[in-house]
Amino acid sequence: MSDSYAVIGNPIGHTKSPLIHGLFAQETGQDMRYVAIEGPLEPAQAFADTVKDFIAAGGKGMNVTAPFKLHAFAMADERSERAALAGAVNAMKFENGRVIAENFDGVGLVRDIEVNLNQPMAGKRVLVLGAGGAVRGALLPFLAARPAQLVIANRHVDKAKALVEQLALNGSLSACGYAELESMEPFDLIVNATSASLTGQLPPVPPCVFSPHATAYELAYGKGLTPFLRLARDAGVQGIADGVGMLVEQAAEAFAWWRGVRPQTRAVIDRLTVPLN
Ligand code: ATR
Repeated sequence: MSDSYAVIGNPIGHTKSPLIHGLFAQETGQDMRYVAIEGPLEPAQAFADTVKDFIAAGGKGMNVTAPFKLHAFAMADERSERAALAGAVNAMKFENGRVIAENFDGVGLVRDIEVNLNQPMAGKRVLVLGAGGAVRGALLPFLAARPAQLVIANRHVDKAKALVEQLALNGSLSACGYAELESMEPFDLIVNATSASLTGQLPPVPPCVFSPHATAYELAYGKGLTPFLRLARDAGVQGIADGVGMLVEQAAEAFAWWRGVRPQTRAVIDRLTVPLN
């Protein structure tokens, strides 16, 4: 029988994960099946019960998406440092009766930016908008990429400051509100990790943050030219991208973790890309 994997979320109808992992399995010749599971929203214990049922039926691993990333964190027996900092889990491996938890969102994002978009972050000025779960997951991998400056801007500045303090690091990481961005030097990479684009909104980011050669990255995907990407383009930015590459790269990280073989991502990204114009 082939090894069994799944993505769990609610709703889950629009997930691309079975397609992505199916293509990876085909390309690498792995004998596995990968399905989508709509997890129960309540009672609270029902999520863990669903995962345990999947394990009991021989399941080897799961991806986890909204709204269960915190539930998965809570039920894990072991958590990676990245998952611990994020307080959230997007991939689980089931081994010897234990649930091992990871968070590949941040590494997937860094890989998309540095490898696919060919924009190494070392020595660059990087601005991240937002201080929610998506940013928590990205911070350690971002710092590991050694930017000259990493600034986190959020409407609720305290949330961004708390994140920075949690990392208790050197001067290259700082937090601020949107108004303070007006008086800062422009940035080389600006990542919109707020949830504003999901509702067609624009974070109050001033156009002066974009340097002429900047890359503007929208974490959301499949939404075309979001208000944030439009702002960047109107500010003269040539390099704009959405999160489809991150989606595929985090999937590739999970696949490599589960199967011990790294799939190619380019063709899969191309297949899923929705034009931005
Ligand atoms: P996620 O897990 O997707 O990051 P989240 O934890 O709910 O979601 O965080 C949402 C983030 O988007 C927050 O940083 C939020 O800013 P606040 O913490 O100040 O509320 C940000 N956000 C949502 N809508 C926004 C908007 N219209 N403009 C600016 N920031 C927005």
